[in-house]
Amino acid sequence: MASKKKAKGGAGLDQDQLHLIGRVVGDNGRKYLPRYLIAFVLMAIVAGMTAASAWIMKSVINDVFIARNEALVGVVAVGVFAIFSIRGLADYGQTVVMNGIGRNIIADQQKRLYNHLLAQGMDYFNAASLGEIVTRVSHSSMAIRQVLDLIIRSLGKDLLSVIALVGVMIAQDPLLSVLALVIMPAILFGMRMLVRRIRNIGRAEYAGMAKIIASVKDTVLGIRVVKSFGMEDRLKQDMYRTIDDTAKRSLKMANLSARSVPLMEFFIGLSMGTIIMYAGHGIVAGERDAGSLFAFIAAVLLAYEPAKRLARLRLQLETGLIGVGIVYDFLDTPISTKDADDAQPLKIAKGKVELRDLSFAYGKKSALKDLSVIFPAGKVSALVGPSGAGKSTIFSLIERFYDPQKGAVLVDGQDVRTVTMQSLRASIAYVTQEAFLFEGTVRDNILAGRPGASEHELVAAATAANAHEFILEIPGGYNAQVGEGGGNLSGGQRQRIAIARAMLRNAPILLLDEATSALDAVSEAKVKQALDTLMSGRTTIVIAHRLSTVRNADVIHVIDGGRLVESGTHEALVAQGGSYAHLSALQFSETAPRQPRKPDLAEAVE
Ligand SMILES: Nc1ncnc2c1ncn2[C@@H]1O[C@H](COP(=O)(O)OP(=O)(O)OP(=O)(O)O)[C@@H](O)[C@H]1O
Ligand SMILES: [Mg+2]
Repeated sequence: MASKKKAKGGAGLDQDQLHLIGRVVGDNGRKYLPRYLIAFVLMAIVAGMTAASAWIMKSVINDVFIARNEALVGVVAVGVFAIFSIRGLADYGQTVVMNGIGRNIIADQQKRLYNHLLAQGMDYFNAASLGEIVTRVSHSSMAIRQVLDLIIRSLGKDLLSVIALVGVMIAQDPLLSVLALVIMPAILFGMRMLVRRIRNIGRAEYAGMAKIIASVKDTVLGIRVVKSFGMEDRLKQDMYRTIDDTAKRSLKMANLSARSVPLMEFFIGLSMGTIIMYAGHGIVAGERDAGSLFAFIAAVLLAYEPAKRLARLRLQLETGLIGVGIVYDFLDTPISTKDADDAQPLKIAKGKVELRDLSFAYGKKSALKDLSVIFPAGKVSALVGPSGAGKSTIFSLIERFYDPQKGAVLVDGQDVRTVTMQSLRASIAYVTQEAFLFEGTVRDNILAGRPGASEHELVAAATAANAHEFILEIPGGYNAQVGEGGGNLSGGQRQRIAIARAMLRNAPILLLDEATSALDAVSEAKVKQALDTLMSGRTTIVIAHRLSTVRNADVIHVIDGGRLVESGTHEALVAQGGSYAHLSALQFSETAPRQPRKPDLAEAVE
């Protein structure tokens, strides 16, 4: 994301990347330090044995083949066997240890990312795309393991092996060693060119992946709209474009990074040819012993793989760090609404809720203006008003999903910003406007209201919400899976489950946002009875468009354009002849004469 010119640090990595590596190591390395040390020791053994296997070649050639030393044949044979066996075992042990750490790190990261996600304020969820979030939690955590593995394996196995093998080379022939090593800088230079090009492609590839996931989710959740509006072709075109772009990018990236292979082969061939040319003459002339040349060549060949990996290290780190960067970008997003440092648990007395001079805007878009309302404890208050007036926003502020720009929400006299969110929300049962159900069973969904409630309480809540009957009718009953978002239930059924959930919660404050809007008249009447029982003695705030639902409320507040327009009982407001009276006239045409004046109609229908 940050594409500013970056200062170069060590190993050709820029400062940001070094910083990221530092964080990865700091966050994970310490916890697994003992196990990393074990892996490191095992890797050192692998490196040592690799060097020994090159070293022993000298003896194989000089003592066995040339000197025909009978006594040494057995020793050398056993030595070779021992070297390879030890190396194999150490390598296996090292892999097992590293795999164990790797799995744990991925799990740790996924948990950490998920916790951070849960803690985010509502504004984060308004802005973020699901695709991005999923990519972060699932894919990016692997990047952290990848980077750590790379670092440890490069330092432990590859670097130590190369050092040990170079030691063997120098011991056999210092001059030849210099010859073989001059090609290294050329290889490194070639790699650097590749790395630079890969960096930009990588981030774009991640973004493409996120977009694909987001589109799939939109398609699945909105499939009814997609089909009924015939959006398939357009969606398909968009999706194909994204998929093709992403595929093109990952192909480019794979091909670029594959270029490091011929590059390495070319240079290694060059160096081997030079060595044979130079040393071969010496042997033919009888000035040089064949054993040391063999040991030397063996060391060069054995150093090839680890050296290749080291040369590619930059390249792979670069790819891995893109994912790591995405993880940390997310972990660094500050949490907008969180408990104050000295937050106390809410001390609930009767559950009086007060909005005091409240102003709130979503970003720049004002939603509530200088709103002062008292919702008396134990009474039923209603909020009515046109769509977009700010009614649901009031509930969001009472739940402290957002903090107001001005004014305060008080529950029993305590500013909600000074109490813990957990205690605040535990005192509230909230039936949201879109009755959302989680993937899981009907039982799980109702029990979410109060985990640990007894079966008897569960059934009582469902019965009161007029849900028990239909639940028994669906296959599986309380154990029926409701599907993501409650897709296989009707709108009214979802609402009744949501109401049962709130009933089970048994909280002193009850927020009902259009809770019965999807119910037929008979069901609503039944649920209303139960709600009436539930409401008694609790502070209840009801939002409804259907005025019949709120007509009996102790007090009705009319909200319009984020402001309080009028308040009073149904009778008082009707007598007042204001906007409530017009609305009421429209909805209860039998109780009040219809007044089809144009502006009122427009107002009410808005
Ligand atoms: N998450 C959001 N981000 C930005 N603006 C929002 C958001 N939620 C609501 N708004 C805006 O705030 C205003 C108040 O919305 P709110 O949902 O409170 O209305 P409402 O009175 O509940 O309407 P309805 O009766 O249709 O549910 C609207 O103009 C709406 O567009
Ligand atoms: Mg609303």
